[in-house]
Amino acid sequence: MNLVKRCGRGRTGGIPVLLAGTLALASTLLGGPATAAPQGTLHELAAAQGKYFGSATDNPELSDAAYAATLGSEFGQITPGNSMKWDTTEPAEGRFDFTKGDVITDFARQHGQTVRGHTLVWHSQLPGWVAALPSSRVEAAMTDHITREATHYRGAVAAWDVVNEPFNEDGTFRTSPFYSAMGSDYIATALRAAHAADPDAKLYLNDYNIEGLGAKSDAMYALASELIDEGVPLDGVGMQAHLAVQYGFPYEMRENMRRFAALGLDVAVTELDVRMQLPADAARTATQSSYYRQVVEACLAVERCVGITAWDYTDKYSWIPNTFPGEGSAGLYDENLSPKPAYAAVRTALGGEDSGGEPGAIKVRYRSGDSSAGDNQIKPGLQVVNTGTTAVSLSEVTVRYWFTGDNGASTYATWCDWSPLGCATVTHRVAAPGSPSAGADHYLEVGFTGGSLAPGASTGEIQLRLSKTDWSDFDESDDYSHGSGTSYGDTPEVTAYVAGDLAWGVEP
Ligand code: XIL
Repeated sequence: MNLVKRCGRGRTGGIPVLLAGTLALASTLLGGPATAAPQGTLHELAAAQGKYFGSATDNPELSDAAYAATLGSEFGQITPGNSMKWDTTEPAEGRFDFTKGDVITDFARQHGQTVRGHTLVWHSQLPGWVAALPSSRVEAAMTDHITREATHYRGAVAAWDVVNEPFNEDGTFRTSPFYSAMGSDYIATALRAAHAADPDAKLYLNDYNIEGLGAKSDAMYALASELIDEGVPLDGVGMQAHLAVQYGFPYEMRENMRRFAALGLDVAVTELDVRMQLPADAARTATQSSYYRQVVEACLAVERCVGITAWDYTDKYSWIPNTFPGEGSAGLYDENLSPKPAYAAVRTALGGEDSGGEPGAIKVRYRSGDSSAGDNQIKPGLQVVNTGTTAVSLSEVTVRYWFTGDNGASTYATWCDWSPLGCATVTHRVAAPGSPSAGADHYLEVGFTGGSLAPGASTGEIQLRLSKTDWSDFDESDDYSHGSGTSYGDTPEVTAYVAGDLAWGVEP
């Protein structure tokens, strides 16, 4: 057994100080930048990776000269926060008003930016007259609205959120005047109408809480697959990404993006912000930076992720305090338009692989909590220890305990029985690797909803348990991660990852 710790990737973080100094000197002599910090605006950095970096904006804010200056220089794409919504563009039936949206597309044109049109069909910010229509008239009203608006913005809008927020949290279709009148067919009808009006615009479905794997993103995935099978014009899926420090980072965001990409769709992060309970403190701010960074890393890791839009770049104009009382500080810039730590984190992440930093230095200690290797439960005890010199954000850490399912059910139940962190902070599930190897056709994956591990600190013991749903017995003796020691020891057969990169151990 090879017990050598394998590092995730070689990065410039490992360059010895002397050599780094020489490189800096060399680049100064050559006339290049003397620092390793990536140059350019957020959008320029993103564009160097084939993506855009954008921001939402709104008409009243554009009279704020300092705000508009940064909006126009730092961002390569803008989305109107309100001015293309139905209540603004068709407040009364057949009375269209595109004045406010035109101000946004003019701004974009003057600053060489692309525009995401937001949004043609949505249950919210919908004028009362639509809801008051008899259901027999809703389809015509919807297609007329789409046709007029998408035709008006032809050439000025690169992509449309054609339908916004079609799903409930459990993945069922959300009730709206459109769903009530047409059932889920309204979505295909809306996409076809938008395509007819502007054949060049990229057409998206957009929703929140679909950033990670889960019931709601499964529903979006099923819908997108069905629409594609039926030949309905659909180009992409927008993940709003209204994240919150207190709810943890979306589960497997890049895997989720990849499955949409595999359907042949583009993916866009359309409304990114990371709110927190106020007051902002150091821990919340650090978690926020880490979430912003992880979103950027996920997008960079998936070729079909076309770009990221912040749902307004500054706390000064964020929608969060009005909608989530007691929460805020969600943006990349503060209320004085000064960049926050999250801004630096995004820049670093956009600077590419070499400036992404080492994966956090961590190790896993394990003991068996199980006196029988042949009964119906597996009971690993785990500890994650920070062996590095900087804090590790636990929301980025996952641990895999590899085992074989043996005979019986292939579905599992998992438990956290005890941890000084509190089991509410610990996530656990069983998954199967793409291809099984000896002693490892499944793994128990453990993660954390948040928190930070200081240099040298340990999570303390996490007592875990799993069984098959039919309670049939395991034979643990051949399991890759299984050991019989009952006191904790460093265990490379239990692997650990930081932001998806192997940071400890040897995979089976
Ligand atoms: C928000 C705007 O930012 C606010 O100004 C407005 O009062 C409410 O809507 N999901 C969406 C966006 O798709 O349209 C919402 O924008 C935020 C949530």
